[in-house]
Amino acid sequence: METVIVRGGKPLYGTVTADGSKNAVLPLLFATLLTDGVSVFRGVPKIGDVEVSLRILSAFGAESEWIAPGVLRIDASNVREALPNASDVSSLRAATYLIGATYARFGRAKLMPYGGCAFCSRPIDLHLLACRAFGGRLTDDGEIRGVLRPGYVNFPAVSVGATVNALFMAALSPGESFIRRPAREPHVMSLVRYLRLAGATVSVTSEGMLVRGEKLHGAEMTVIPDMIEAGTYLLAGLTTGGKVTVKTDVSHFSAFFTTLFRMGADLRIGEGEVTAVGGKPLSFGSLKTAPYPGFPTDLHPPTVPLFAVNAGGDVSETVFPSRFGYLSALSEFGVRYAGEEPSFRIYPSKLHPAEVTAPDLRGGVAAVLTALAAEGESRIHGATLIHRGYAGLTSKLRSLGADVTEE
Ligand code: UD1
Repeated sequence: METVIVRGGKPLYGTVTADGSKNAVLPLLFATLLTDGVSVFRGVPKIGDVEVSLRILSAFGAESEWIAPGVLRIDASNVREALPNASDVSSLRAATYLIGATYARFGRAKLMPYGGCAFCSRPIDLHLLACRAFGGRLTDDGEIRGVLRPGYVNFPAVSVGATVNALFMAALSPGESFIRRPAREPHVMSLVRYLRLAGATVSVTSEGMLVRGEKLHGAEMTVIPDMIEAGTYLLAGLTTGGKVTVKTDVSHFSAFFTTLFRMGADLRIGEGEVTAVGGKPLSFGSLKTAPYPGFPTDLHPPTVPLFAVNAGGDVSETVFPSRFGYLSALSEFGVRYAGEEPSFRIYPSKLHPAEVTAPDLRGGVAAVLTALAAEGESRIHGATLIHRGYAGLTSKLRSLGADVTEE
């Protein structure tokens, strides 16, 4: 389904349940390449990025099977060295996890053009720094080669992807490794839990992560709920002036909630659920993205429509400073803005329907939220990009009373 058609202007009401987290499940899937045995993951979202990851894993001989809705069994008993399909790798940012996983497992990693959202350049220097710490050397023909050994990684900046790769290498290295300045996102901590269940010893302190590597076996785990998806539906409720409850883990949200509370939003945080009650005008907002526990960069674009239908707001992007290409799509709906990377001001805007193409995953869902708030029929093309990260987006929105279809 390539086009989402939204007849907007209706407040959304109801309850949805957050799926398993995209950003948490992808590291777990690639971690199975380190193991010898069967892993079972519960709460796996049926999203495009999971499908592509499973195709890549199958190239390495890891066999996956959906054994119940949302329950994925991966048998990594016969994992072998392989070269995955280049078009799969180039459509998925998480394919960078192959760098650490294949170097750790085979002593060799072929660098490839990695994909994902093209909102800015995505360097891999921190991933390579981690490889060097674990004995890997970059060859002239674009491979990391070496003999895996315990490493001391001193990251100069926080990177989720490079931390994941460092954890992969440390978990298979015989001996003690240390990762200084690791990312501590909930999805990184869920990988730490999986590696522990699979046999590695990982201690997390304020200084970093101390890892004792082991031969890893399979493990069973439930994927944590998706805080980005949950936040998106709460924003849908507020932006349309309705009332939306999301069933999710509420412990991972702090900076996002703070931003909304400061605008005067009525958020009711309960046991395992949050309700966003819209309908009253909110004050000028302000968000500044940062590594966890800061405001998540992935919730920046979906928050902008809320700013636009209220008193406006300032957006400052410290993780991906050029993540603003989607604003030109939102301007088609009447969203007014000014500024330059990495900071833009969003002005109070009178919205109208529009026909746009999703610029990237989170920018695409921001266009859907804007369309939901704009009275009349809008079309968002290129919805495949949105389905990379949102399972059943249109059916969940319909369950909240939205008039949304796909063709
Ligand atoms: C980022 C988010 C993560 C989210 C994911 C999916 C952060 C810190 N990371 O992770 O929470 O789940 O997107 O959308 O919020 N960088 C380098 N060199 C490198 C690697 C990264 O300079 O080798 C820079 C990036 O350009 C960026 C920053 O480090 O400015 C953080 O990037 P990183 O955390 O690696 O990105 P993702 O792993 O994609």
